[in-house]
Amino acid sequence: MVAKQSSNIALVTGATGFIGSHLTHQLVELGWRVHIVIRPSSTLGHLQRLRDSIAIHTHDGTTEGLFAIVEAVRPTVVFHLASLCLAQHTPADILPMLESNISFATHLVEAMVAHQIYYLVNTGTSWQHYENKEYSPVCLYAATKEAFEAILQFYIETTPLQVITLKLFDTYGPNDPRENLFTLLEKTAKYSKQLAMSPGEQLIELVYVDDVVDAYIVAASRLQSKEVQGHEKYEVSTGSPLKLKEIVEVYEQETGRKVAIKWGGRPYRNREVMVPWNKGALLPGWKAKVGIREGIRRIQNSRQ
Ligand SMILES: NC(=O)c1ccc[n+]([C@@H]2O[C@H](COP(=O)([O-])OP(=O)(O)OC[C@H]3O[C@@H](n4cnc5c(N)ncnc54)[C@H](OP(=O)(O)O)[C@@H]3O)[C@@H](O)[C@H]2O)c1
Repeated sequence: MVAKQSSNIALVTGATGFIGSHLTHQLVELGWRVHIVIRPSSTLGHLQRLRDSIAIHTHDGTTEGLFAIVEAVRPTVVFHLASLCLAQHTPADILPMLESNISFATHLVEAMVAHQIYYLVNTGTSWQHYENKEYSPVCLYAATKEAFEAILQFYIETTPLQVITLKLFDTYGPNDPRENLFTLLEKTAKYSKQLAMSPGEQLIELVYVDDVVDAYIVAASRLQSKEVQGHEKYEVSTGSPLKLKEIVEVYEQETGRKVAIKWGGRPYRNREVMVPWNKGALLPGWKAKVGIREGIRRIQNSRQ
């Protein structure tokens, strides 16, 4: 249990997203004063009911605009989750992806150090480590995450900036706006369709969103307790990946629904991750608590 930390000020990017909105709720719950950075086009979604409990800053896209936000907020810790996440890209995705994952992120850090804000929790992905390699990007999105980490090295060496990068795996839980495995299974069962899937032998590391949020809170405490030197990187995993086929079995058992799946009805994706990265260190003081069965039950309960 983390103590109430009312003097802490959080600046959250990506707060309107799936994980960011859960993190924002939890920070408010823990007594942080929470500020979020959104775009003019952002919609608040699940943050609507927090409208009166958080400060919302709309970034106009300019460098000066972001500097003014960081200067006005003077956060204790910046939680950086904003990203354009695409498993596959088209040429038209390149600019927006570089803008979100590198340009915006670099401006954010530049604004932080200009205002002597030195604690950053950054977000990476296990997809930076295809085939368990030190660095091998599964896709261009993963390459942009690595590129930003390389940029961070400059700030680490030239300023007192301290960073923890949390490398996330497949995160699941309620209020996920993306079409994900569980929404797909639910639709297939509901409309008695047949779903064409890959042969299903790939291992998937599913981490429940509340556990992922806990990792951000633990990382923030670690930064504040001055235990971090430079840039620390951790994987946020359960350590117990399951085959896709096994996950579907567990889903059927927990929900009592039968899902008609044509295994092998479509090929594996190009650079499909067959065995998730398992060579990272776990964040000290953090451990996943929610198992897959409990996670599926919580999603079901959230819909009732
Ligand atoms: N979900 C997963 O399973 C998973 C796995 C590995 C890593 N991650 C990482 O975890 C983080 C959160 O993921 P998520 O699933 O919660 O993402 P998400 O639901 O797609 O949300 C992305 C967020 O980033 C914001 N954003 C994107 N570009 C921006 C920009 N240029 N300026 C300001 N805000 C911008 C979006 O704002 P708008 O509302 O304006 O669009 C949104 O709030 C990301 O860094 C992602 O790469 C997630």
